[in-house]
Amino acid sequence: MRKSLTAWLLLTVALAASAQEANAPRYATVAPSADGIGKTYQGREIAHVMTYHGAQWLERTERVDEEKPEIVLAALDLKPGMTVADIGAGTGYYSWRMAQRVGKGGAVYAVDIQPEMIGLLEKQIARRGAGNVKPVLGTVTDPRLPAGALDVALMVDVYHELEYPYEMLAAIARALKPGGRLVFVEFRGNDSEVPIKPLHTMTEQQVRNEVAPHPLKWVRTIGGLPWQHIIIFQKQG
Ligand SMILES: C[S@@+](CC[C@H](N)C(=O)[O-])C[C@H]1O[C@@H](n2cnc3c(N)ncnc32)[C@H](O)[C@@H]1O
Repeated sequence: MRKSLTAWLLLTVALAASAQEANAPRYATVAPSADGIGKTYQGREIAHVMTYHGAQWLERTERVDEEKPEIVLAALDLKPGMTVADIGAGTGYYSWRMAQRVGKGGAVYAVDIQPEMIGLLEKQIARRGAGNVKPVLGTVTDPRLPAGALDVALMVDVYHELEYPYEMLAAIARALKPGGRLVFVEFRGNDSEVPIKPLHTMTEQQVRNEVAPHPLKWVRTIGGLPWQHIIIFQKQG
């Protein structure tokens, strides 16, 4: 009798704790810093979205030396025929390069939330003849990708500015095939050599903490880029 009472009490406490966790607000509000939106996730203030007014910066010629896109693309291990996504594609700097690698039999969903960026991206894909790039106007919580379709999802310099990182990661996980990969490229946080505002950087640990609630397993982190790191996860199940 005493044992069953103890078990019942433990179960009640556990249920109360999990209900409290489920009701806990996911995001918190702080006084906005100069580069942030005044909203935090897991203790990190989310950065402002880079507007299309700065789109030229994404196409700067120095980017090839500063970011070594060929190393990033090699890390994606793209194969002809793959279906992939460039989420937060901006002007499509990576989209058309990915398109060349997956070829005509493959597809690149290029997602952005700014219609003006999608307009610039469309010009770029027309100029590059990248007919296998499909522009997608997403929302802040939903990249509007087909379920279970992607071999690889890439986010370059995007994650730190997602207004709803939890919802976006959940949606991206749903869009990946089992075994599909999610690849983050972010400017390295806590690195005095990286000439980028702190809110526009991410540490590996913070990325791993924020991915932890989702069915995505960390695979590896690749250094070797001048200022960024490449953090790779794989969908479980
Ligand atoms: C700094 S730019 C990087 C663009 C591109 N990845 C590159 O490396 O050239 C970040 C982009 O992410 C987009 N973005 C921000 N939040 C987004 C979201 N929830 N879904 C899709 N795109 C988003 C912005 O509109 C912006 O174009």
